[in-house]
Amino acid sequence: MSLGTMKELEQALQAVDWLQGQRIAVDHVQGILQPVPTCRTWDRIWAFRAKPQDLLIATYPKAGTTWTQEIVDMIQQDGDVEKCQRAPTHLRSPFIEWIIPPLPSGVDSANTMPSPRILKTHLPVQLLPPSFWEQNCKIIYVARNAKDNLVSYYHFHRMNKALPDPGTWDEFFENFLSGKVCWGSWHDHVKGWWDVKSKHRILYLLFEDIKENPKREIRKVAEFMGKELPEEVLDKIVHHTSFDIMKANPMANYSSIPSQMMDHSVSPFMRKGEVGDWKNHFTVAQNERFDEDYRRKMANTSLVFREDC
Ligand code: A3P
Repeated sequence: MSLGTMKELEQALQAVDWLQGQRIAVDHVQGILQPVPTCRTWDRIWAFRAKPQDLLIATYPKAGTTWTQEIVDMIQQDGDVEKCQRAPTHLRSPFIEWIIPPLPSGVDSANTMPSPRILKTHLPVQLLPPSFWEQNCKIIYVARNAKDNLVSYYHFHRMNKALPDPGTWDEFFENFLSGKVCWGSWHDHVKGWWDVKSKHRILYLLFEDIKENPKREIRKVAEFMGKELPEEVLDKIVHHTSFDIMKANPMANYSSIPSQMMDHSVSPFMRKGEVGDWKNHFTVAQNERFDEDYRRKMANTSLVFREDC
């Protein structure tokens, strides 16, 4: 099944029973919460065959995945905006553990794609299909400070029926702290990938750094991809991947996903894109509790984040 058009996608989604007014159910893969269809097809995902030329973008959800996907595609297309308009993000770089039957899964989409492929995952490091390590694939990991990541994830749950109902802000806050959210604990995720970064071909980036100096970070990504781009192309990529331009770009803002799954009127996918928005959500008590818990969980890592611009 091709999902080239909005109409095809809408028709396919009509066949998804649980979407008719409901939310997806979740279960566990090795202790990590995942949508049930991912759990049911886990053997196929684990057996995914990576290719040496694959470039994988790995993130905890809401850490800047889509932003990085756009940056990487723009670099790969030498700054050609029209080429990057060929399809929406989720078709240009398949999400390997994603599956909502009867839509083609991330694995199916990736398998039909020519090399060099750009792929996406939110899997914690221990769940990455081993073929990525065996093929020595390049991986770009992007992490975002926990507080903004939590806020963004909360709003994303509100608008996306392919995730469980987040409950109240207070309830989601607690679930995030205890790692009882899809793709598991933020703390374990960012630390797990940090710990392996020097053993593999991994470029570890921070959302806050990209925000602070996009050109510097885009240049890093281009170098990692083995691309030498003239200054004017880098400038063009900075512009095309800025928040306002991506928000208005139907191929990058997820408006191609029918509203029965993602309802942008509840909260747009391209919501704020800021550093420090957590201050508009955390109570003083929640902030203290978060910091205390954070100090304990992050005591054994050299990884440092900025929660402010
Ligand atoms: P907010 O909800 O804080 O606005 P992901 O792609 O991993 O799901 O991450 C989505 C988050 O990244 C959202 O954060 C979104 O607004 C932000 N984002 C996406 N593109 C961006 C850009 N070009 N600049 C800044 N933030 C961006």
